[in-house]
Amino acid sequence: MKIARFSRIGFILAAAGSAVGLGNIWKFPYMTGENGGGAFVLVYLVTSIFIGFAVMIAEMIIGYLGRSDGAGSFELLAPSHKERWRFGGLMIITGLLIMTFYSVVIGWIFHYIVVALTQLPATVADAERHFMAMLQDDITTQLMYHTLAFLIVTWIVSRGIKSGIEKLNLILMPLLFIIVGGMFLYATTLEGFTQAWAFMFNADWSKLTSESFVKAVGQAFFTLSLGMGAILTYSASLEKKSNLVYSSIIIVALDTAIALLAGLMLFTFLYQYGAEPAQGPGLVFISLPAVFYEMGMLGNVFAVLFFIALAFAGLTSAVSIVEPMVQFLISRYGFGRFKASLVIGMVFYLVGIIALLSNTSVYSEMLTFGSKNFFDWMDFLTASVLLPLGGLVMAVFVGYVMEKERVFAAVGHHFGPFFEVWYFSLRYIAPVALFVVMLNLMGILKL
Ligand code: PHE
Repeated sequence: MKIARFSRIGFILAAAGSAVGLGNIWKFPYMTGENGGGAFVLVYLVTSIFIGFAVMIAEMIIGYLGRSDGAGSFELLAPSHKERWRFGGLMIITGLLIMTFYSVVIGWIFHYIVVALTQLPATVADAERHFMAMLQDDITTQLMYHTLAFLIVTWIVSRGIKSGIEKLNLILMPLLFIIVGGMFLYATTLEGFTQAWAFMFNADWSKLTSESFVKAVGQAFFTLSLGMGAILTYSASLEKKSNLVYSSIIIVALDTAIALLAGLMLFTFLYQYGAEPAQGPGLVFISLPAVFYEMGMLGNVFAVLFFIALAFAGLTSAVSIVEPMVQFLISRYGFGRFKASLVIGMVFYLVGIIALLSNTSVYSEMLTFGSKNFFDWMDFLTASVLLPLGGLVMAVFVGYVMEKERVFAAVGHHFGPFFEVWYFSLRYIAPVALFVVMLNLMGILKL
């Protein structure tokens, strides 16, 4: 099958666009707030840099050499038991589960662009009331914007790799960097910056529970888009002679930088204006609008830009979450791209409505299972369980199943003397660390 090719910069921006998403700007700050700051950040950083980077190269290799959809690449590259390895491709289904809540949150962001343009809430209490009213009682607004998110994502994916995904990223990613970078620079001039820095980098280990450990590792996978075939699928569209090592370094660096900049900026604003960091998923929707209101005129401009940047980050990631399944339907079942995009879009749209309803007061009881509602289960299951599991499968596949010469031929030249270091961490460090995560997980889930 012929797969369209990215241009070199197109690939880097698309992969970075996939990585830099709601995970960086919405999730990372509130998770850091909820899990006590520094220690959480440190576990996340160590995982991203040491394990995430190693797994990213592995995932790229599978796509780059396999040149097929998720399942097909595993099948092609496995030296034996091909029909069994094909099931590695099942990991693309994780994307469907992620999209159920991802699209809903992009919807909230659309709504907040309008709030920022019209009337920002004046106090944190006001902002909380506004957010809760939307979340728990305003099904219509959420549904309307969730629909909009579904339409935009489906439309872009249906236009394909070149004129849909690559073009979107070429335009939105530079704008996103400028907005986040500019707002961060402004934050560094404020007094609250010192406090924000201390909160994010002074590790208080007593605050790190086994659940926050699992979440930090899950966050590293989530934010780097690893473990579900997004990077794999994009890499199948790489040019023939590509430097995977260099691309991975840039992507991990950009993703980590944006998370840290967004976190520092957000906490600076919160400290400066006396709001609370430990607010949960409402953080950027509750504290931040009130803080922007306090800033006056400049705050209004910031608010609009911030939510636009957040929407950009969300959209460029969403297309990469959907694309693996679309590619799968096209290459396996001969679907046209439009039809494939629509089918996948409809599924996440409809299941997304369940996620949306599970936050509302009317339906929450019905849609809560054990400790979490449907929305939170999707988030937890995908980020903390399925993505690390997918990462483990890829690490084992490239580290043990594929022939070493073949792996070396793809990246050895670019790694130079570090090839063995990477190969070692892929074979021993990443699997062991991910195994420890799975053990911790069982403790949390009380299996
Ligand atoms: N990395 C994206 C984010 O940080 C989410 C994502 C997960 C994208 C998995 C693709 C695959 O928001």
